[in-house]
Amino acid sequence: MLGIDGNAEMIAKAKAQYPELSFTVCDAHDFTVAERYDAVASNGALHWLTRDPDAVITQVHASLRPGGRFVAEMGGAGNCAELIAAMQTAWREFGLAEPELPWYFPTPAEYATRLEEGGFTVRLLEYAERPTRMTQGPNGAADWVRTFAAEPLGQVPAETIEPLLMRVNDLAAPALRRESGWVADYVRLRFAAVRAADTSRDEFQDATELAAAGSRHTLRALRSV
Ligand SMILES: C[S@@+](CC[C@H](N)C(=O)[O-])C[C@H]1O[C@@H](n2cnc3c(N)ncnc32)[C@H](O)[C@@H]1O
Repeated sequence: MLGIDGNAEMIAKAKAQYPELSFTVCDAHDFTVAERYDAVASNGALHWLTRDPDAVITQVHASLRPGGRFVAEMGGAGNCAELIAAMQTAWREFGLAEPELPWYFPTPAEYATRLEEGGFTVRLLEYAERPTRMTQGPNGAADWVRTFAAEPLGQVPAETIEPLLMRVNDLAAPALRRESGWVADYVRLRFAAVRAADTSRDEFQDATELAAAGSRHTLRALRSV
């Protein structure tokens, strides 16, 4: 078992909680492993890997044995639509440039295509709304933005942050604030895919050469009768 994350603090916490297991800090776009694994599981991380989703799938594929499983949950198309709309409106109202959002929320068809093109057979794919209680702090959408949208918030002048976040709360409240508390409008993709049997170029070429050699032998055999 090997656990990976790009954040050293996350890995330190994991090591402290599970000292008997192996963990390492690395970027999921270009990690390599010394051995092939039976399964790769990922929770709530793939939608943060925005640089090159295909590179991530390629790395996962390379770390699995043929027949190995890739099982994950991630944000899907429409994830946090109300939160994002509230952010975009508030940013615009304060005269700020459109926030650059650090997420990739694909449709099921888009991600299934990437998986298939990356050498996986998709066995299961779910796409569902999963409203989730906000636990980031007492200030609802404002605390959610502080936690998960730290990058775009970092571009905002310091004196604007508080009034901007209060405006995000006003805008998001009708859709996301319930009597029982704030709820984030999560939409999730869950999938289970299997690394298809090896059809690497080398093996394909070997097979082609064998087939060609076979037909040469057949021709010789035919000529000799
Ligand atoms: C919402 S957290 C989920 C963490 C954990 N998988 C869980 O279920 O609690 C998203 C994680 O993605 C990690 N992450 C973001 N970009 C990454 C990258 N390029 N490579 C590896 N991990 C990354 C973050 O450090 C963060 O820990």
